Amino acid sequence: MTDYSRHLLEAFERRSARIGVVGLGYVGLPLVRALHAAGFAVVGFDIDAQKIEKLKRGEGYLKHLGPALFRDLAASNRFSPTDRPADLAGCDAVVLCVPTPLGGHREPDLSFVRDSTRLVADVLRPGMLVSLESTSYPGTTRELCLPILERAASRFGGEVGRDYFVVFSPEREDPGRKDVQTHQIPRLVGGITPHCTRVGVSMYSAAIEHVIAVDSAEVAEAAKLLENIYRAVNIALVNELKTILTPMGIDIWKVIQAASTKPFGFQPFFPGPGLGGHCIPIDPYYLAWKARELGHTTRFIELAGEVNHGMPSYVVSQVAAALNTDAKPLKGSRVLVLGIAYKPDIDDVRETPAAEIIDLLMEAGAEVSYHDPHVAVFPPMRKHSIVLASQPLTEELARASDAVVIVTDHAAIDFGIVARHAKVIVDTRNAMAKCGPVAGRVVKA
Ligand SMILES: NC(=O)c1ccc[n+]([C@@H]2O[C@H](COP(=O)([O-])OP(=O)(O)OC[C@H]3O[C@@H](n4cnc5c(N)ncnc54)[C@H](O)[C@@H]3O)[C@@H](O)[C@H]2O)c1
Repeated sequence: MTDYSRHLLEAFERRSARIGVVGLGYVGLPLVRALHAAGFAVVGFDIDAQKIEKLKRGEGYLKHLGPALFRDLAASNRFSPTDRPADLAGCDAVVLCVPTPLGGHREPDLSFVRDSTRLVADVLRPGMLVSLESTSYPGTTRELCLPILERAASRFGGEVGRDYFVVFSPEREDPGRKDVQTHQIPRLVGGITPHCTRVGVSMYSAAIEHVIAVDSAEVAEAAKLLENIYRAVNIALVNELKTILTPMGIDIWKVIQAASTKPFGFQPFFPGPGLGGHCIPIDPYYLAWKARELGHTTRFIELAGEVNHGMPSYVVSQVAAALNTDAKPLKGSRVLVLGIAYKPDIDDVRETPAAEIIDLLMEAGAEVSYHDPHVAVFPPMRKHSIVLASQPLTEELARASDAVVIVTDHAAIDFGIVARHAKVIVDTRNAMAKCGPVAGRVVKA
């Protein structure tokens, strides 16, 4: 053990370390909460000055985290929000939680990781730990972040694993989930060297209940991708089965319920209107891109992507078929979409399949309205510009709609109104099964 690592281990143990969190979004903020609750002084850095102002005023900008967190952080003398990179200079550890989106050709866009690593490089000093949490392909930490940090470390003749420490520790946040918080989600840590891993484990163990050291940064990077690819592939499997079983008159939801009685060897996944969010629709393509570089094709990833990307148009075809039964065309029909967030009980619309469903319905000439208790106005999106605001869900609206399409089953939506008053319900989430008697016609899609 070097003097620097000994010093850091002690500082983490005594909670005297100062920790910088870079990128204060869906991943960074819950991490700030966990580190702050553990007793650390936390510097929260983001390039978005509006977020920093809100944090200083104690105003929330991520609803699912609740107002108390923002109030408590603003009142704390152990939390310093900032948009000045120089404020990271006094930190013993810096954790990067910046976006890793896809470019126009589904290639990894690592510009945020590169930029934020450069900021850390500017303040790198002996005895510092740098942890990358952003999801990316195996090799990102070593091939992209490390060279930037190595160049900076040459200022003080620093060597990784001896004078400063670099790890990858994938975030497994599931925004909106109420039963577990960040500190209860088991955490993987893989370092550039074994010493780096040890230092990283020591920091995370101070704030997170269960920390698992893995062999290398690459194992940690690949494990995160395996988790998300596993979900993408299994969701695609049940989505495909849905399109096969439905015309046979078999309810996929009942099939999954039946198969789930097996106590081993089966984990239930559920069909839906298509993938959304920052992880499942994006992360698998990071590995696909890296594999292509090595001359390999990732057939499972491509096939799952193809099936899942086809779901919005499948849903719209089911709406058209349902209206057709009533001798109505999509053109001119009033269609009410329930829920536009990509999953229940959050306000996140990133990559939401609702956008494509609404676009397709509008292209076909339907008059579309939506209700989402968490999203008042349809926000501008990269590929969609939908000018709509959430309508109150009333008996009149349900009755006046030719079809109601359930895209997201938020707990705050009164599905009873839909059960009693809607004529045709196209249900992508099996939400009506929990509603008791339904007056109208339900089509599962
Ligand atoms: N959202 C999730 O559920 C989730 C779960 C697990 C992992 N991840 C991964 O975590 C990473 C972050 O995702 P997120 O959902 O928190 O993104 P986000 O968009 O909610 O937050 C990222 C934040 O980083 C800031 N930022 C961008 N560039 C910066 C820079 N150079 N310096 C400082 N701040 C910068 C942005 O302003 C933003 O506030 C991604 O790699 C994502 O794939 C996300």
